[in-house]
Amino acid sequence: MRRLDRWKKTLLLALAVASCEWMGAQTATILPAPVEMTMQEGYFRLMDGMTICAEKDELHPVADYFAEAMKEMSGVTLKQVDTDGKKADIRLKVSKDLSPEAYRLTVDADGVSVETGGPAGAFYALQSVRLAIQPQDKTGIPRMYVADQPRFGYRGLMVDVSRYFVEKEELMKIIDCMSVLKLNKLHLHLTDDNGWRLEIKKYPRLTSVGAWRVNQTDRPFPDRRNPEPGEPTPIGGYYTQEDMKEIIRYAAGRCIEIIPEIDMPGHSNAALAAYPELACPSVDKHICVVPGMGQGSGNIIFCAGNEETFRFLEGVIDEVAELFPSHYIHLGGDEAWKEYWKKCPRCADRMKQEGITHIEELQSYFMRRMSKYVQSKGKQVMGWDELTNSTLPDGAIIFGWQGMGNAALKAAAQGHRFVMTPARLMYLIRYQGPQWFEPLTYFGNNTLKDVYSYEPVGADWKENYESLLMGLQASMWTEFCNSAEDVTYQVFPRLAALAEVAWSPKGHKDWYRFVKSLDNYLYLLRSKGIRYSEAMFNIQHKAVAENGKVKVTLECERPDVAIRYTTDGMEPDISSPVYTAPLIVDHGGEIRCATFDGTGKMGKTLTLDMGWNLATGKEVISPNVSDKLLTNGVRGSLKQSDFEWTEWYTPEDASFTVDLGKASPVSRVVLGCLTHYAMGVHKPAGITVEVSADGQHFTKAASRTFTKQEIFKEGNFIEDLSFQITGGKAVRYVKVTTTDAGMCPEDHLKPGQQSRYRFDEIQVF
Ligand code: ACM
Ligand code: ZN
Repeated sequence: MRRLDRWKKTLLLALAVASCEWMGAQTATILPAPVEMTMQEGYFRLMDGMTICAEKDELHPVADYFAEAMKEMSGVTLKQVDTDGKKADIRLKVSKDLSPEAYRLTVDADGVSVETGGPAGAFYALQSVRLAIQPQDKTGIPRMYVADQPRFGYRGLMVDVSRYFVEKEELMKIIDCMSVLKLNKLHLHLTDDNGWRLEIKKYPRLTSVGAWRVNQTDRPFPDRRNPEPGEPTPIGGYYTQEDMKEIIRYAAGRCIEIIPEIDMPGHSNAALAAYPELACPSVDKHICVVPGMGQGSGNIIFCAGNEETFRFLEGVIDEVAELFPSHYIHLGGDEAWKEYWKKCPRCADRMKQEGITHIEELQSYFMRRMSKYVQSKGKQVMGWDELTNSTLPDGAIIFGWQGMGNAALKAAAQGHRFVMTPARLMYLIRYQGPQWFEPLTYFGNNTLKDVYSYEPVGADWKENYESLLMGLQASMWTEFCNSAEDVTYQVFPRLAALAEVAWSPKGHKDWYRFVKSLDNYLYLLRSKGIRYSEAMFNIQHKAVAENGKVKVTLECERPDVAIRYTTDGMEPDISSPVYTAPLIVDHGGEIRCATFDGTGKMGKTLTLDMGWNLATGKEVISPNVSDKLLTNGVRGSLKQSDFEWTEWYTPEDASFTVDLGKASPVSRVVLGCLTHYAMGVHKPAGITVEVSADGQHFTKAASRTFTKQEIFKEGNFIEDLSFQITGGKAVRYVKVTTTDAGMCPEDHLKPGQQSRYRFDEIQVF
């Protein structure tokens, strides 16, 4: 019986393999797309006992790595041999005409042959082999020729391990998966207001105090309040120096350099909670490791007037420089709010001594002094683009994140090298797909296709800028993460898109080919147990009022799926109509839609529950660009940035008017209003509804005012604010005027911030 089973299995395997061979040359699924690639018919088949030979000692670790990867992936045992390399099945050889990361790869009947400029090139060649192997035939390497090299030398990922502490083993998994994509820099944001994550032997309180915060994981990051003194602090963790050595070794084995960031002078509450004497004496607040946005604690930064601050930071740099073999130390420099500096007698003295007249130049003094120290250790300095707000430290490499990264161009104009990580496209904290399906996070969307579409070199750049651009980085801020899986969900698969932008030549992009190749990488992630996002299969809707109807557009990023929909409340299936053009809706009801490929349903079902009332589809007259959403029949979700909310963010009173098209009796007006306390989204102070038959003469029909308590209520909820319209007159125009609620009060999570309000829908009955 057992023998029969084995026989059956062998037969099935042979059939599967034969069918692959028979299919001829595969389309290669190598990511990022190589510079040059030719596929040939057939395969070279890996078998147990085959040999791998590295011509030079420096390539031996790469050969070991590949043998291990193949064992894990294909179950095949490869033997590393030292001599007679020409006869080995897999041959790695150094070629002087290639740069260290470049390679030439030939797979033919004789096996796999790699020529490279250095170990990294060999490593990348073998990653190409790995990604060319298909999951249904794990021992078949397609015959091919590849000649490849990266577009940029800096191909990076930043992981913020301060907001969420990523355990060593979990970080290694990320490193492993990024190395498959030929990324070569991992920038670790090791310190911030929310936790200090690296053991510094000279300053043990940095980790005994600074690595730990109160447990408010039951609330999203922006909703968390600062603790009272003495509250237990069980949440956090840190890397010991031994841990970090292990991480560095593991990354080096995958051709990845770990770049440490010690952020200063801002984002330093964790350090200052441990050593509060290094804050300005003007600080009048309890300093703590903050669990969330800090209610203004972000203003507490290292005192620039205190010599102890510099002695302390130099002590930190001493150990960091010793521990990390990287050429670089990143000194942060971002978002250093100067409120306490302005009130600090020590900072004032420093400015006087140094002849500094502008407070921004005090930061320049700080950064330049620390940069000199870093450089004295033989390291190069990196920093965020805020460093361009004042005199730049000599030689500093600038990371452009604001304004599509263009702030870094100010540095380029002064001859500085730079790395692009524009928040709008490269911050992986942002939503990666239709928000109704995504876990809560900040800001707007930055989809897989957005990342893929990024071209860092601007058409209007001055000639020398491109030569100063070291490369690109995706930055993963972890405010909304509560597990390592939350981190990988945001990182993958967008990191694959970043990798292709950073590696493949300009003009090489092919979205269809990219997503097709991606499927094989996703298979690899699954086989490693990595959680990733499938948001690219979900549908983004856009519903706008148009001529008394609602035009519903449905979009999916994947070009290889069909959107199918129903209007009868049933779940869409493979026989449902295919969406080919916007749907024009003239009555209430449910639209359900999902994406399908040849095998079945791919994404999640999107349900649009369309309401209908006298205002639906009707024109809104207002200066607000998103006013067509107010009468589109679709309600917003609790996520304020889901493209269903129309926002007013101005201290001025605002108004809008709905034209119902014809005069009819109106008894009630309902406004959908969002409260998102943590983001400062609240009701306005007052709302007045006026009505008119001719659009000229309006009469006040109803109004409501709200107390401060009613306005600044905590929570995240939607209220339908109802207005009874009496008088029985025929109404064609409904005008809504709002009065501003002013600043968020002092005890608010956002004290002193201008409150904003958002409506999703005006309903008229
Ligand atoms: C940053 O996003 N503060 C660099
Ligand atoms: Zn000070």
